Amino acid sequence: MNFLKRSLVDEYTRVSGRHDDPKVYGGPAGDPGLIGPGSVSWEIHSDMSAVGLAGVAAITMEILHPSVMAGVHDRSNYRTKPFERARNTAGYVFATTFGNTDAAEALIARVRRMHERVEGVRPDGTPYRAMDPTLIGWVHTCIPWAVMRIFERYNRPLDPSERDRYLAEQAIIGHKGGAGEIPVTAADLEEYIEEMRPRLAVNEQTRQFFEFLLESPLGAKGPAPLARQINRFDVHAGISAMPEWARQLTGYDHSPRFQRLAVEPYLRTVSRSLRWAFGVPPCRAMAEARVAAVVQQPRPAPVAGLA
Ligand code: HEM
Repeated sequence: MNFLKRSLVDEYTRVSGRHDDPKVYGGPAGDPGLIGPGSVSWEIHSDMSAVGLAGVAAITMEILHPSVMAGVHDRSNYRTKPFERARNTAGYVFATTFGNTDAAEALIARVRRMHERVEGVRPDGTPYRAMDPTLIGWVHTCIPWAVMRIFERYNRPLDPSERDRYLAEQAIIGHKGGAGEIPVTAADLEEYIEEMRPRLAVNEQTRQFFEFLLESPLGAKGPAPLARQINRFDVHAGISAMPEWARQLTGYDHSPRFQRLAVEPYLRTVSRSLRWAFGVPPCRAMAEARVAAVVQQPRPAPVAGLA
């Protein structure tokens, strides 16, 4: 791999993780995993830039629900280990798409156990629990929604049947994670978002989360003031994948001029260069090899006297 490709891949994996564990992406010969080859999910999630760049938009949409924000505020280590969270959530997307069936099921079960311990009371006194099927449904839906928006903007448009297939494929994972009613078509998705909008809000916890996201240097390299500016730009680029009403709700929207002259060219370049650098990412290549591997048939025992 040439130097430039290597540095792009290293920079991506430093923040979003490697996702090349043979125990997850290798495994039983012929095992398609939970979704399988030929799916729209295998194509979309092979674009590491779409999953990576969708991270900020997805988490920002998720925490606009005050119950999710309260759970993350009270019980997650996002302030001390922001990248562990990002890597593990990206890992959840890659492993449930390309992982072998046992590894994917085991990860979903492990994360369910973690969520079973997450419960509390929001600042407005409303009790919450992470395993509430509506909350799991919201957090689930924000992921394929954000990934699909980024993929269609910076890779290729999907036709209506591909959008429906992608959402239906991802709903398999959502339901295994404990989600209640979630969209399985693009039309459902529109309706679902309109239903959820009145429940979304920004409170002091959300402001602290955005402050953390925008003010800390996070993964950006270079002297702190510069790193902070680079990170701030990255977060704005991520937030730009959200719908306008949601960006405005956050209070961190930016001008269409800034979007056109700075953010769009940046996201287009990052997206193209990551696809060039990764080619077929390891998680996909290993899954393809696993599915293509021939199940070894046990050799028939030699018939006595004929050996
Ligand atoms: C399908 C929906 C969801 C997905 C895919 C998801 C994904 C994840 C993943 C992968 C982890 C493990 C991270 C790790 O290993 O460090 C995690 C932990 C966590 N999630 Fe979720 N999550 C979902 C829904 C929710 C909801 C609805 C809430 C809050 C109400 C929530 C709050 C948390 C918290 C607080 C943790 C950290 C738990 C701990 O460290 O013990 N998640 N989530």
